[in-house]
Amino acid sequence: MSLYLHPVVYLFLEAASPGSESIYHLFDYFLIVAVFVATAITFLVFYLGFRYRQKKNDSEPEQSHGNSKIEITLTLITACVVAFFFYLTVSTMLSIQKPAGDHQPDVVITGHQWWWEVEYPKDGVIAANEVHLPVGKKLLIDLKTADVIHDWWVPALGRKMDMIPGKTNHIWLTIDKPGTYIGACSEYCGAQHAWMRIHVVAQSPADFKKWEKAHAEPARQPQSELAQKGHNLFMSSTCVNCHAIEGTKAGGRIGPDLTHIGSRKTLLSGMMKNDPANLDKWLTNPQKVKKGAHMPNFLFTRLQVKELTAYLEGLK
Ligand code: CUA
Repeated sequence: MSLYLHPVVYLFLEAASPGSESIYHLFDYFLIVAVFVATAITFLVFYLGFRYRQKKNDSEPEQSHGNSKIEITLTLITACVVAFFFYLTVSTMLSIQKPAGDHQPDVVITGHQWWWEVEYPKDGVIAANEVHLPVGKKLLIDLKTADVIHDWWVPALGRKMDMIPGKTNHIWLTIDKPGTYIGACSEYCGAQHAWMRIHVVAQSPADFKKWEKAHAEPARQPQSELAQKGHNLFMSSTCVNCHAIEGTKAGGRIGPDLTHIGSRKTLLSGMMKNDPANLDKWLTNPQKVKKGAHMPNFLFTRLQVKELTAYLEGLK
């Protein structure tokens, strides 16, 4: 598509990938025509209403039916507009969604009720909710689901894509500049659908390498006596059946990987800031914080919650 205009939506939204730029350009064409049609109709309604209003002693106007010339002209204009938009839409779709071929994915993202699993298959790193990606590199991202249909959407980074049970979808993504890009699940997937935020942290290749290297390491040893007690409690409880902490016996894949949970900015898929007070709230009664989440209330004592918080927040 070469007829590029300056996208009006840039005033409201940020585009940080070639894919989102193409979508915004497409949106602009629709916007221009829609604004033109809305303005013309509004004008005509008022103008004709005024011009042909009933005056004193007016008799009934002459009745006429059908005007082939006008009908054919209007139908042709409308058909041309539809054909033009069909062409623009299809060419945009083809330009941003190429087949994956036999390329290996750089990242595999799996939607869960209600969080995101992020796997880097080339180096074995597994993270959750915070998606770190390098800028300037063409990335193939596979999108899957562990349960129901979810939908990946980070507006600044291009198109949406459904995550469908039993099927692997993909997107190609090149990010133009470093920054944090916020997205959300955009297919209703149950009670906490609204709290399935996505944080994409786009980093320079060097920063990304650093992050990746740190996250390929097993979990840190507990740094204090309180944290050590939290570690022991975690390992002797059913926590290990659902969560993985690399380098320990905890290997569950039902809930988010916790190997480096202390380094994440948010908890519960963007629901709250990651700090000891919020983690304390969550561990005290998960159902009060994120109702319907698959983690039950373990009825930990105050001391146990403090121990677990100290351990988990120390996993940088
Ligand atoms: Cu996942 Cu909505």
